[in-house]
Amino acid sequence: MDNAGQIQHVSGAEREREIGGIVDVYQRRIGNKALLFDDIPGYPKGHRILANILTSVPRINMTMGLPANASEVDLVAFWRRYMQEMKLIPPRTVSRGLIQENVQSGDAVDLHCIPTPRWHEQDGGHFIGTGCMVVMKDPDTGWINYGAYRVQVQGRNVASVHCTKGKHGNQIMRKYHERGAPCPVAVVVGMHPGLFMVSGLEIPYGTNEYDAAGGLLGEPVDVVAAPRTGLPIPANAEIAFEGYVRPNDLLPEGPFGEWAGYYVGGVLQEPAIRIETLLHRNDPILLGAIPGIPPDDDSFYRGTYRSGAIWNQLEAAGIPEVKGVWAHPSGGSRLWITVSIKQQYAGHSKQAGIVASQCHAGAYANRFVVVVDDDIDPANMDKVVWAMCTRCDPRDDFEILRGNWTGTSDPMNYGRGDQRNARVVIDACKPWHRRESFPLAVGSSTDLDAHIHAKWRHVLPGAEAT
Ligand SMILES: Cc1cc2nc3c(=O)[nH]c(=O)nc-3n(C[C@H](O)[C@H](O)[C@H](O)COP(=O)(O)O)c2cc1C
Repeated sequence: MDNAGQIQHVSGAEREREIGGIVDVYQRRIGNKALLFDDIPGYPKGHRILANILTSVPRINMTMGLPANASEVDLVAFWRRYMQEMKLIPPRTVSRGLIQENVQSGDAVDLHCIPTPRWHEQDGGHFIGTGCMVVMKDPDTGWINYGAYRVQVQGRNVASVHCTKGKHGNQIMRKYHERGAPCPVAVVVGMHPGLFMVSGLEIPYGTNEYDAAGGLLGEPVDVVAAPRTGLPIPANAEIAFEGYVRPNDLLPEGPFGEWAGYYVGGVLQEPAIRIETLLHRNDPILLGAIPGIPPDDDSFYRGTYRSGAIWNQLEAAGIPEVKGVWAHPSGGSRLWITVSIKQQYAGHSKQAGIVASQCHAGAYANRFVVVVDDDIDPANMDKVVWAMCTRCDPRDDFEILRGNWTGTSDPMNYGRGDQRNARVVIDACKPWHRRESFPLAVGSSTDLDAHIHAKWRHVLPGAEAT
């Protein structure tokens, strides 16, 4: 990224307010550079922090080895193929890796040697795990799972992990605790961005995320066994620690600025990780993927993935002629979904909208689904709003669905412990029975457009939207 001019180096920012404040400014616009902080007061030179990595399409392309000029639409197509083929390349266990350059164990463990920022002013602590992998092993099957679940520093050798009910890590941890056993956990907090990307994706239950990451990157991930738990950690990761979560060992956690753009959860009681080993490379880099008012580093990269996932699931549910899906980044890539279709029959558009709002990839924390005709680019918000304003009759075309799946980070969940929400499916397609008589849209015909592009190409640069 540095060679491509994609890194802004920052020297001397302190970790209580300034690092988070600079990240906040950089996340106000998609396409800004990634940030690499060094010379952090109170820490040795070289103990660095990298943030704002995946808020640009070129950097996402770079991470996945795609052509530099691949667009958002190409990314949606990429994720669609990735999920359909689900190529798995198992990790390769090696005996040595750069992660072993520095190993602290037992009483020597001190998480404070890593300069973890307070990312947002109102955060209840220092979150070392944001762009992270929390690795666990199913005690019955040996399945290795890793996911991005936020991790807060709680002391020299204690951290806490916030893993929502139903997430794979939560399911695995419960299996240990139901038997009264401690759950072994490894947390990796600086690594190849591709490994982190997979961490935040809903890879199917039972599939090892390391296999999925190998498939994404096109080569096996080299791993070493963590010294106490034996859990696999990337051999060349920057920073990792391992330990155990004991049953009913909870600590106050949060609040933390979350992906919907609010501090929602308040102070929670979350499982404590009692750390036995801390490993890091020389001059380690902590990776931050910081939620904020979206789009942000948490949600932007996942928008193209979620669009592809919803598209696949619409097709799997038998919805014909889906032409595009866009999970809008300003809705945290969850709250707003636009689907474009080539209408085939009366009721097609409503069916597509309701399925998009309830399929696995679209259901969690959605608020708006808008269905448009195939002449509308679902990623072009001006055109989507135009379709909503001109093709939609709110008497029939708004469908309010009540009692849906959402979570604590949705500020409009029902509240008082009821984690459901209401949402609306908006049919902004031309009414099926008026499709032939619907007013003709203004604008050049395909013929006129081709003629203008052939003859007047020299006056067009800069004038075209896309
Ligand atoms: C930066 C980032 C932070 C996240 N933080 C959390 C979190 O604190 N808790 C949680 O349950 N999910 C969190 N997620 C979402 C999960 O990582 C995501 O749902 C993932 O699929 C979980 O893995 P699993 O499917 O193996 O459970 C986060 C995702 C990202 C990208």
